[in-house]
Amino acid sequence: MGADAEQPAQDLISHMITAEDEDGDGMSDALVRDNVKTFLLAGHETVATSLTFLMDLLARNPGIQREVAAEIDEVVDGDTPSREERRDLEYTTAAFRESLRLYPPIHSISREPTESIQLGDYEVPEGSMVTVSAWVPHRDPRWWETPETFDPDRWMGETRDRPEFAYFPFGGGPHVCIGRHFARMEAKIILSQFLGNFEFRTDSLEAPDLQPGFTTQPGKAIELELRERR
Ligand code: HEM
Repeated sequence: MGADAEQPAQDLISHMITAEDEDGDGMSDALVRDNVKTFLLAGHETVATSLTFLMDLLARNPGIQREVAAEIDEVVDGDTPSREERRDLEYTTAAFRESLRLYPPIHSISREPTESIQLGDYEVPEGSMVTVSAWVPHRDPRWWETPETFDPDRWMGETRDRPEFAYFPFGGGPHVCIGRHFARMEAKIILSQFLGNFEFRTDSLEAPDLQPGFTTQPGKAIELELRERR
């Protein structure tokens, strides 16, 4: 692919292979392999899924799509937003957060208590499987007005006081997602390129059917029509 022998490659795997810690030690092959698997499994699938649902939401809500596209046009100079431009993409970020509320890509997380515990009225025995689903609090009318509505404005300016775990698309506690900042960065770059260049349309006003696998998946392929904007 025309790589320059003088210039070391700049891709992620090359960075991992050549990285050194403060003692000059590099990563073992096994660690590089495990990191690649993390990026692929924990990182790729989740971001791809979240953007699938967001593009569908934007196609079904053309007014909101126009607002996101207008912000991108105003803030981003060129194809890829810089760090400062990404910070200024407030409404775009709000739309991403709102789609993670309605369609959390990781719909459930599980824990196995190492000793019996009392949780409210429940005694949870050691070794049992406890599953917590973000889907439930994310659509709970106690914390969200019109919870089924896609409304990025709820994330703009002062946000309503809510319990910490009314919203946890990235989990929480010691195992909170280590890739959450990276995911938001990826999403803003991809959205800038998508919406800076194309308008996304759909004839369907129906929310997609869902298929809960390892990630939250649409029941059938989401088909959108693209129109060039520029
Ligand atoms: C929208 C995108 C993403 C979502 C919704 C998401 C969601 C989550 C959730 C809910 C957890 C907690 C799992 C648990 O508690 O059992 C988690 C953990 C994790 N995520 Fe993400 N993630 C995303 C992107 C990424 C990316 C881009 C990476 C890496 C490049 C990543 C790497 C990880 C890793 C390594 C863990 C395990 C952390 C630990 O157990 O200490 N994630 N993620």
